[in-house]
Parts: sequence; structure tokens; C-alpha cells
Amino acid sequence: MGERTVIITGANSGIGKAAAIKFATEGYRVIMACRDVDRSKKAQMEIIAATESERVELMGLDVSSFESIRNFCAEFKTKYEKLDILIHNAAYFNHGEKSYQFSRDQIELTFATNTFGPYLMTKLLADHLAKSEDPRILNACTTNIRYFFDPKRKIEFDNLQGEFKDSKPYSVYVNYGNSKMALLMLTFKMAEHYHEQGIKVNAVQIPVIKVSKETIKKVSPGYRIIARLQNLLGDSQESMANTYFHICTSEEFKNVTGRLVNDKRKIVNSSHYGSSIKDGVKQFFDKDVYPTYADNREIIEKVWELSSRLTEEA
Ligand SMILES: NC(=O)c1ccc[n+]([C@@H]2O[C@H](COP(=O)([O-])OP(=O)(O)OC[C@H]3O[C@@H](n4cnc5c(N)ncnc54)[C@H](OP(=O)(O)O)[C@@H]3O)[C@@H](O)[C@H]2O)c1
Repeated sequence: MGERTVIITGANSGIGKAAAIKFATEGYRVIMACRDVDRSKKAQMEIIAATESERVELMGLDVSSFESIRNFCAEFKTKYEKLDILIHNAAYFNHGEKSYQFSRDQIELTFATNTFGPYLMTKLLADHLAKSEDPRILNACTTNIRYFFDPKRKIEFDNLQGEFKDSKPYSVYVNYGNSKMALLMLTFKMAEHYHEQGIKVNAVQIPVIKVSKETIKKVSPGYRIIARLQNLLGDSQESMANTYFHICTSEEFKNVTGRLVNDKRKIVNSSHYGSSIKDGVKQFFDKDVYPTYADNREIIEKVWELSSRLTEEA
């Protein structure tokens, strides 16, 4: 197939870094799209040393900033003829954060990073992806969206630009889950939207994974204890990176699009359970189903329209 190029956002730590190692080992040109280029050089050097690849490039990208995304995409397009794989791995999830945070574009930071950034980046790179023989996009989702099995849980669309920032309680956990549910809904819509260009778009349902040493350094001392406990239970970053690689490169997933895939590489389907309490408990533990909320056509269109409007305005 000739040279193949993958962009991995947030490739300087955790699963993103492990994925960069995997793709570089397999001969891919890897573009590490990271927000702090100076800090990320150390990770780049480690990846080059581990893989002996000369094709691991570091480029500056703040996924929460629409200007940064535009600059990144313009620079990428001047340098490279085509793009084969785009992995939206970076995410904002600042454990313990209690106050409402804005992006540079005055958008709630979790949504700006985890939902609207991937939307805009995909839109700007779609023509380069369309030049690939087998273009694939992967969105990093999470088992956290399973809280949407609660029929009362909804994405709060009314506070994404700080409308109620001083009057409504802020939870980074709720915003994280909401932004990743919105990303799953975008996955379904992107798959339809980019179908004619041959671009396949899937999401991966990531369970508890070990927290990287870089991330542990960034969080508050209280959360460090939780992170170390998570590291006793969580699966390795490498195993998740191998799953990213499988979904993005294997024959098995070549024609799969618009699907959520779990860490066992099985397609996750919309919940088929009934509304009894017993069924409610069963579906929560069944990793092969996702909440039916994600299929709500009206809300999918709302996420798409909002992503389009907010990224155009800025
Ligand atoms: N670990 C888990 O248990 C788990 C579970 C479910 C889902 N996930 C998902 O898996 C993905 C990878 O997470 P991880 O566990 O590997 O976490 P991680 O080690 O904290 O990595 C997150 C990466 O995202 C980058 N990032 C954050 N905001 C960014 C921005 N505005 N622009 C560019 N890069 C940005 C970070 O860069 P900096 O170093 O500059 O902060 C870091 O490289 C995320 O999408 C996460 O939501 C993880």
C-alpha cells in the first residue's frame, strides 16, 4: 500500500503514546499531535528509541482551540499529500476540577476538547483522508457513557457557553461523560456524512486503563491515590493501543463504519434490554450494549448542528 500516515492526538502520554509506539513499530509514519511541543519532545525521543523509526514527527496542536486546529491542519496539508488514519485520542478530564473552565473560544473546555475539536479536525482533514486507499477515523470513547442507561441522564446543551456557569453546579465527571456521549453520536453521523468519500469512522469503548506516569504528575495529590488504585485494576495502555491498531488497520474492520467497538474488539450494539429494574442492572454490566440514548436521531442532529455552528462562529 506504500507509505501510510497516522495522526494521533495526545500522543505524548498514556494510550496515545503507546499507540504511537505500535504504529511506528509497524512501519507507519506517525504524527504526534500534541499541545506542548517542548514537553512532548521527551516522549518523541522515547518513541524513536523504542521503535528505531525515523518517521515519528511532532506537531503542535491544542484540540480545544479552533485556531490551533486550523493551523495544524493547514500545516499538515502543506507537508503531506494524504492522510490514512486519524485517531482522536486526546481528551480533557481534569479529575477533581470543581469550577467551570472555558476554552480559548469561550466554550466549556470538556466539550471543546472532546467533541467540537474532533468534529472540526475531521472536517478540515476529510479531503486528505479521502485520498487514502483505506481511510479510517477512530474516536476514543469510554465506558463512562454507560451512566446514560439511567433514563434521566441527558446531555446538558444549555450550559456549553457558560450560560449558567455561576448558577448550576459544575461536575467535570458529568461533562466528561456527556462530551464522550456526544462524540459517540458524532461517530454515527460522521460515518454517514463521510461515507461517499470512503472514510470509515468508528469509536472505541475504553474501560479502566492504567493512568500514565505523566498524567499522575499532573493531577492533585488526592487523585494520585485513586490513580494508583486504578493502576492495580486497569488494563495496560499497550493492550488498548493494540486495539486502536486493530480497528484502524485490520481486514476485519476494513468495511466497518459507524460502530462502537469494545476493548475485546467486539461490536457494541444498542441495548436490547427491557425497562424492568432487573434488565436495567443486567444492561449496566453487559459490555456488549450501549445506551439507546445514543441512537436518538433528534439529539444526533443537534450535536452535529451545534458542532458545525460553534466551530464556524469561532
Ligand atoms: N485511562 C482510562 O482509564 C480511560 C478510560 C476511558 C477512556 N479513556 C480515554 O482514552 C484517551 C487517552 O487517555 P489516557 O488514559 O491515555 O490519558 P492521558 O495519559 O492523560 O492522555 C491524554 C492526552 O490528551 C492530551 N490532551 C489533553 N488536552 C489536550 C488538548 N487540548 N490538546 C491536545 N492534547 C490534549 C494530553 O496532553 P498533555 O500531556 O498536554 O496534557 C495527553 O497527551 C482519552 O480520550 C480518554 O478519555 C481513558
